Amino acid sequence: MIVDEERKINVHLNIAERPTMKNILNYETVALDENDNSVIIIDQTKLPTDVVIKKLYTAQEIWEAIYRLEVRGAPAIGVAAAFGIYILANNINTSDYAEFYTGFKKQKEYLNSSRPTAVNLAWALNRMEAVCDANKHLAVTEIKEILRQEANTIKTEDIEVCRRIGEHGLTLLKPGDGILTHCNAGQLATCKYGTATAPIYLGQERDYRFRVFADETRPLLQGARLTAYELMAAGVDVTLICDNMSAAVMQKGLVQAVLVGADRIALNGDTANKIGTAVLAAVAKQYGVPVYVCAPTSTIDLNTKTGAGIPIEERPACEVTEMWYKNRMAPKNIKVFNPSFDVTSNELIAGIITEHGIARAPFTESLPAFFCLSI
Ligand code: MRU
Repeated sequence: MIVDEERKINVHLNIAERPTMKNILNYETVALDENDNSVIIIDQTKLPTDVVIKKLYTAQEIWEAIYRLEVRGAPAIGVAAAFGIYILANNINTSDYAEFYTGFKKQKEYLNSSRPTAVNLAWALNRMEAVCDANKHLAVTEIKEILRQEANTIKTEDIEVCRRIGEHGLTLLKPGDGILTHCNAGQLATCKYGTATAPIYLGQERDYRFRVFADETRPLLQGARLTAYELMAAGVDVTLICDNMSAAVMQKGLVQAVLVGADRIALNGDTANKIGTAVLAAVAKQYGVPVYVCAPTSTIDLNTKTGAGIPIEERPACEVTEMWYKNRMAPKNIKVFNPSFDVTSNELIAGIITEHGIARAPFTESLPAFFCLSI
């Protein structure tokens, strides 16, 4: 292990050290270091070869960690933003509420601009802002303490919410089922269990012996680098396939359900998730395989009526042409279209599995009903 004393970053670098390293599932995806007012993340861009634990201190470091997908997956982005805005608020040096709030708002807007599609980012930041608003009669030091508690609550709730998604999801599956998943909606995208992987992890504890197929997920390979890695670490039977192989495994009858996560779910159930999810859902329809979206209610955006209203992030061309290759794989200056997400139409979704249960069509009725419930 290499320890960077100056920045207090512990870097586990050497793959030869792997036998002495912790299982990836025993690391926290996102944590708060209260002693030095920083956010701790696993740098997911380095997985699976290197486990690099990073500490984030400044607004720019937090923004870049989210933008570069060092911390990624809708729920984990929300938790990172909550801890992030807390540490930034903690650094605002004033006892005057108006001045504190102006500084808070500025940092909040900045963090919120890091990625547009996952609504959990804005959801968590809004929840933190609501703490300021509800407690403005208190001293700034007291508000900071309540912000710290709220950020920790967002994290602990995430774990419970994912566990419940797992329980509800498991009711739809049978021992031995083949499950296909896309991108990484796993523990690395949340604080524990994941969303799409939650039924798989709970099933693993209960000897369901699922056979999981993980789409590699071009262009950033979250399925290959993260999902395959964390499921293997848990001892799950997982097979890696390229994104264009879903029809081949479904034709063979190897898949009984598709479980995916979500970055934003519109009121009508249209779901934005990692690019390729919509193709996968269309293929699944062709072979009669049900597609379940697994997501916390914090990913449901009732203010967005349909998928057409969901902002879709476009990312740099180099992710497609060269980023993960030893040599460049496309001509220089080729035009590239690189949307990071697509929208799966609600008709292709058999159910949306949340912490409150499974929403079915018509989603305009079933999804809002969950918002009167609490965990
Ligand atoms: O660009 P990413 O890696 O952040 O995209 C992640 C996904 O699309 C996940 O499926 C989604 O955030 C759900 S995570 C539980």
